[in-house]
Amino acid sequence: MSDRLVIFDTTLRDGEQAPGIALTPDEKLTIAHQLAALRVDVIEAGFAASSDGDFEAVANIAKQVRGPVIASLARCHPDDIDRANDALKHADRYRIHVFQSTSAIHMERMLRMSPDEVMKSVVEGVTRARGYVDDVEFSPQDATRTDVDFLIAVCRAAVDAGATTINVPDTVGYSTPTEFVELLSKVYAEVTRGRDDIIVSTHCHNDLGLAVANSLSAIHAGARQIECAMNGIGERAGNTSTEEVIMAVKTREDQFGVEIGADTTQLFDTSRLVSRLTGYPVQFNKAVVGRNAFAHESGIHQHGVLRDRLTYEIMDPAEVGQSGSQIILGKHSGRAGFQDALNKIGVSLEDDAFQRAFNRVKELADRKVEINEEELRIIVADTPQGDNAVEFVGMHVAGGNDMTPEATVKLRIDGDEQSFKGTGDGMVHAAFAALRQGFAIEAGLIDYRVVPVTAGADAMAEVSVVIGVDGKTYSGRGIDTDVVTGSARAFVAALNKSIGAKAEEG
Ligand code: KIV
Ligand code: ZN
Repeated sequence: MSDRLVIFDTTLRDGEQAPGIALTPDEKLTIAHQLAALRVDVIEAGFAASSDGDFEAVANIAKQVRGPVIASLARCHPDDIDRANDALKHADRYRIHVFQSTSAIHMERMLRMSPDEVMKSVVEGVTRARGYVDDVEFSPQDATRTDVDFLIAVCRAAVDAGATTINVPDTVGYSTPTEFVELLSKVYAEVTRGRDDIIVSTHCHNDLGLAVANSLSAIHAGARQIECAMNGIGERAGNTSTEEVIMAVKTREDQFGVEIGADTTQLFDTSRLVSRLTGYPVQFNKAVVGRNAFAHESGIHQHGVLRDRLTYEIMDPAEVGQSGSQIILGKHSGRAGFQDALNKIGVSLEDDAFQRAFNRVKELADRKVEINEEELRIIVADTPQGDNAVEFVGMHVAGGNDMTPEATVKLRIDGDEQSFKGTGDGMVHAAFAALRQGFAIEAGLIDYRVVPVTAGADAMAEVSVVIGVDGKTYSGRGIDTDVVTGSARAFVAALNKSIGAKAEEG
């Protein structure tokens, strides 16, 4: 059995299925580049047949991201498999991941298929995928609630048809570590039958908070691939956290005895990027990447850590890229200082984008004493880099005890500055009403979140919105020291995306 554990990251597929997440193909590409920098082994880039947008995202990632194997999910339907192959074929190395439900409840109630029909579809699906590529993964969905004998029979049939990875999903997060080890040991023995070119994999959901524990326990049963998502995002309570698996295996090598290829120093940046683009905040006490993961509050702990970090820390913050952000810019910083700060965070901006981001930093620095590294990253990500149909110039809100809040927003449309007014139940509501007027778009607000980026009274707030326009969803982010302005920026970003998408549709 190999000592190498394959990290299969599904942030862009199962992670993106989490409610309210709506990543654009460009956002998915940005995350995929960062996952490549993290050096995960496999990136599941999406489910190519599920939508044109996902097809485009998978295809762009396959064309542009080098390093990891690029995968797409596919049902055992010929069209799904063909579509996955079309999207993936430009990758250096790619994998088609076919799945089919195998539990009685899924087969009877959802698929309305008999076990024989399911078995036949698996063999046909895997065979078709193998016609395109040697690297084929099969997942029996809801494996942990599947009759064990049927599970083994289907997985064996998949291997005989050419599958090289057999993934055992705990689709509904029902299993426990002891039970999962028992199941995986059986799958390992009876499905691989001594073949060391067949990899047994796990895919655990977190409904009972056991996803990471179940996945790690499976290593003892011979599993050599773990499917996981950054920040643990995914359907319902989410998936196994990529960062937790990587650091558990690295920190407790004595327990797991497997090697990984990940560059752990990229974990923090990857976590923050995923959080920013999905709009899903990272809980403060999240293991490895949470703001407090290396913070010591009580006097006894602080005293211990000051004497020797190892008294209360089992990992070095630098090892996961949490080296603490340095303060790098203030209101007196000039263009050279700004360029230097960008170099430090590894960002290069072309003339126009540089100027826009610089103006934004100056504008914020006027209202805030200092801008740190994390804030700078967000400002750069938040500053429109290309041509937006409409540019946010500024806003003014008025309201008070007895007054209906009223917002006036200034927008630049085709080079002309124009003002629009709106009223609402609160300041944010009023600002959105004014923006709807300015864009002349009927946009419903589906999701709205505010997260403080850093601590302190002058902290910047990051606002994420998801809007619905003509049955489609678009996400947008905005950042500002003022929550209402940040909200307006986020709304403008989402509205601009809806205009961009319409223009592409022609
Ligand atoms: O949870 C699940 O069963 C899945 C499969 C499609 C792998 O996501
Ligand atoms: Zn899943």
